[in-house]
Amino acid sequence: MIGNSKEVESNQTGIHKDLEGLVLRYLHSEFQRPVASHTQEAFEKAQAFVASFQTPIVLDSGCGTGLSTLNLAKRFPANPVIGVDKSEVRLSKADARTENGEPLPKNVFYVRAELLDFWKLAKEAEWDICFHALFYPNPWPKGSGLQYRFHGSPIFPTLIQLSPELEMRTNWKIYADEFRFALELASKHLNWNAKISEEKFVPSEPISAFEKKFKESGHALYKVRLLRG
Ligand SMILES: C[S@@+](CC[C@H](N)C(=O)[O-])C[C@H]1O[C@@H](n2cnc3c(N)ncnc32)[C@H](O)[C@@H]1O
Repeated sequence: MIGNSKEVESNQTGIHKDLEGLVLRYLHSEFQRPVASHTQEAFEKAQAFVASFQTPIVLDSGCGTGLSTLNLAKRFPANPVIGVDKSEVRLSKADARTENGEPLPKNVFYVRAELLDFWKLAKEAEWDICFHALFYPNPWPKGSGLQYRFHGSPIFPTLIQLSPELEMRTNWKIYADEFRFALELASKHLNWNAKISEEKFVPSEPISAFEKKFKESGHALYKVRLLRG
């Protein structure tokens, strides 16, 4: 085996018993969270970038070192592709990452921001997001970490309303099961006509740095998709 990344270890053996209650509670309440001024400024820069395009936005949330952002830019060459991450160190590698020393594709823009705030601002600004990638979010695998997983957080209703096409990838089966469960529950309560799927997959070409690392370490990988009509 080339990679040596450890599989996710958890004291959970299945979907967290508190998840259903949390999802239902947050679906019926407004998430009150003040946005820091630096995030507001970062969002406005991204806003100016997307305004120079006439096409819907592709969002790469938690883009890390940006490999997936570049891959999405190739898949959506006419759309602005926004990579968001809170880590300055990772984003500085993303900025430096180009193919064969070429400049960054013109449709790529990186933003340093806290996702919870960025999603809130994007929803308020009614961004037209045609594809939302959430690749390998931090798993917070201890049972007590449920509230830090995006589907156990008050931001979940905002997250799922941002785009009619959302794709989440993870190397932890329980995270995939929980994310699908939370989507199905929310979809039912919001009366959505949505297609929600979960699949185990093997990437031919890894889309991101973490996908590459997990693939090389022999981990099983999962994809959960939401498609809303
Ligand atoms: C496991 S890494 C995956 C990176 C990338 N998507 C990949 O597949 O290679 C998770 C990334 O999400 C970022 N992240 C986690 N929580 C975040 C948050 N609340 N706001 C912004 N970025 C966040 C981390 O900084 C990290 O770069």
